[in-house]
Amino acid sequence: MDTLRASWLGRIADAADEQALEGARLGALGKKGEVSLMMRELGKMTPEQRQQAGPALNALKDELNSALAARRAALSDAALAERLRTEWLDVSLAPRPRAMGTIHPVSQVTEEVAAIFADMGFGVAEGPQIESDWYNFDALNMPSHHSARAEMDTFYMARGEGDDRAPHVLRTHTSPVQIRTLQDRGAPIRIIAPGRVYRSDFDQTHTPMFHQVEGLAIDRDISMANLKWVLEEFFAAFFEVEGVETRFRASHFPFTEPSAEVDIRCSWKDGTLKVGEGDGWLEVLGSGMVHPKVLAAAGIDPNEWQGFAFGMGIDRIAMLKYGIPDLRAFFDADLRWLRHYGFAALDVPTMRGGLSA
Ligand code: PHE
Repeated sequence: MDTLRASWLGRIADAADEQALEGARLGALGKKGEVSLMMRELGKMTPEQRQQAGPALNALKDELNSALAARRAALSDAALAERLRTEWLDVSLAPRPRAMGTIHPVSQVTEEVAAIFADMGFGVAEGPQIESDWYNFDALNMPSHHSARAEMDTFYMARGEGDDRAPHVLRTHTSPVQIRTLQDRGAPIRIIAPGRVYRSDFDQTHTPMFHQVEGLAIDRDISMANLKWVLEEFFAAFFEVEGVETRFRASHFPFTEPSAEVDIRCSWKDGTLKVGEGDGWLEVLGSGMVHPKVLAAAGIDPNEWQGFAFGMGIDRIAMLKYGIPDLRAFFDADLRWLRHYGFAALDVPTMRGGLSA
C-alpha cells in the first residue's frame, strides 16, 4: 500500500498539465482505477481483513483526492501567471489620435448669443423654416405687390396641381417669428429667435442658407434708446471687449418705423479685424421700432404696446468674431480649418465620452 501511495502521489505531483493530472486521477480513482479496484476487493475479504484494509484505503483515497485538488490549483495558478506574463498591455503607450466631432461654430455662436440675451431677460422662440407667405411677408407689412418681396430672392415652394393651400416660401428672414410669438404669447414680450433662413444668393459673403437671430421687445414704453443699450451690451459681451460703439443709420424696412441699420466700430490692422476700436464701421444688423401695422397683424393693440425689433446675421458676427473671410467655408468645408482662425470649440462633456482625452 505504501508503494502504491508513493507512486500515485508522485504521478500527481509530476503532472505537467490538466490532461496529465486527469490521467493520474482516472488511473487511481477512476471506475477502473487501481485504488477503486482494490476497494472493490474489500467485499471478498474476511471481516478482520476488511477492518484493516478498509480505513487504510479510504484514507489513501482522501489523500489522493486532496493531492489532486492541490495540484489542480497549482496548475491553474501557473497558467494564470503565464498568461499574465505573455498577454500584457502597455497602458503607458500614447493613444492613437481619433477624429472627433465638435459643435459647429454657427451652433456655438447661436448658443453664445442666446446666453447673452438670456442675461437681459430675453427668451428663445422658434418658427418653421417653410413659412406661409402671409407670415413671411403680408403680416410684416409687405403686401403682395411690395417690391421688398422681389428684393429678398425668395425660394417659393413648388405647388402640386390642385393644391390650393396658401402659398409657402422658405422663410427669407426670422421676422415671421415676431408675428407667431406675439400671436401665441401676446405682449409684453422679450424674445430672440435664432434660426435658418434662405435666399437665392451665393458668393463670398452669401450662401443660399444662412442664419439670423431676430430680437423683439414689446412693452408699454420701449424705445430706440432701449434698443441701443441692449445692442451695445450684447456686442461688448459677444466680442469680449469693454464696450462697442454703435452707429445707427436711418434705413427702411416695411416692418419697422423708424428703421435703422446698425454699424459697430472696428479697425483693420495688419489684416486682422478689431471690434470696438479704430475708425472703421461694420454693418451688422437691421432694426427699428415695430410698425403699428405689424403689431395689429399679430393681434396686438398698437395704441397700448410698442417696442423694437432687430435682425442680425449669426454667420456674419461669427465671421467677425473669429476673423473668417469666406462664409461658404462654414457650410461646405471641413471645419478643422477653423482652428487656424483660433476658433476653439466649446468643451462639451457629452461629446468626450469614450474618446481619448
Ligand atoms: N428681417 C430683416 C432682414 O432680414 C432684418 C430686420 C429685422 C430689420 C427686424 C428690422 C427689424 O433683412
